[in-house]
Amino acid sequence: MLAIDSPEILSSIDQGVQILHIRRPEKKNALTRAMYHTLAEALRRADTDPAVRAILLRGEPECFTSGNDVNDFLKEDEHTTERPAVQFLKAIAHVRKPLVAAVNGLAVGIGTTLLLHCDLVYAAEDAWLQLPFTRLGLCPEAASSLLVPQLMGHQRAAELLLLGERFSASKAWEYGLVNEVLPAAQVLPHALARAQALAALPPEAVQTSKHLLKRNQQAGIDDIMALELVNFTRLLRSPEARAIMQAFLQRGRE
Ligand code: COA
Repeated sequence: MLAIDSPEILSSIDQGVQILHIRRPEKKNALTRAMYHTLAEALRRADTDPAVRAILLRGEPECFTSGNDVNDFLKEDEHTTERPAVQFLKAIAHVRKPLVAAVNGLAVGIGTTLLLHCDLVYAAEDAWLQLPFTRLGLCPEAASSLLVPQLMGHQRAAELLLLGERFSASKAWEYGLVNEVLPAAQVLPHALARAQALAALPPEAVQTSKHLLKRNQQAGIDDIMALELVNFTRLLRSPEARAIMQAFLQRGRE
């Protein structure tokens, strides 16, 4: 596999596992367009590289990711269906190889919704997650409006997606979003060991099995993502959403 050239997305291979490390701690691992672009490209390459048999997504000890960079949300040309975040979501929703996530610290917005497209998710006891879309004047993305209620039922999904409050890793486990909650220091080694266990299995069998597990959902995921995107883009332009995001970026600066 060619090197992924980005200081904020580090890439390495360990025993058949492609490790993608999100690393922008000074901004709580907020994802910029360049980072989405690199991640999407890395996923596509991992899928075609025979040396890669599983993929591990990790962040920093204090943060998995705080989601989309809010500065980018305020840019006019962000309001298109081809923006890098969308390319990343399409890539993660369609990746053929098994995907494992190690969640330490916080996972906000797309930091939580991307977990819906992972096959195994491990989180720290002190990690927290959040789907804050309504609080930002936005709506769900990443097919979360389909996958969250499918995973946990309408009322639990409404609690997370309409109220948009933070929730603990143990609640994420109870609601089915996380496989296991572990002491913080054990999350990464455990997730890597699970990814290596997947990588040690016959790859065609694993990939075919993943495809079969996801097959019934796939068309629905593509449809709902397109519909979410139309609405998300419309709401991004609203004065209400813009004011909320500007207030976040301005806080503590007056
Ligand atoms: N986009 C852009 N910048 C972000 C960011 C994001 N999603 N998340 C954090 N940052 C920046 C902060 O603006 C701050 O920058 P500064 O040092 O230049 O002021 C820096 O990262 C550290 O964040 P800070 O808010 O001081 O850390 P905290 O521990 O007090 O809070 C969060 C962490 C994640 C709770 C808070 O930063 C937050 O709410 N971020 C926005 C999350 C969000 O709305 N994401 C979009 C989801 S759709």
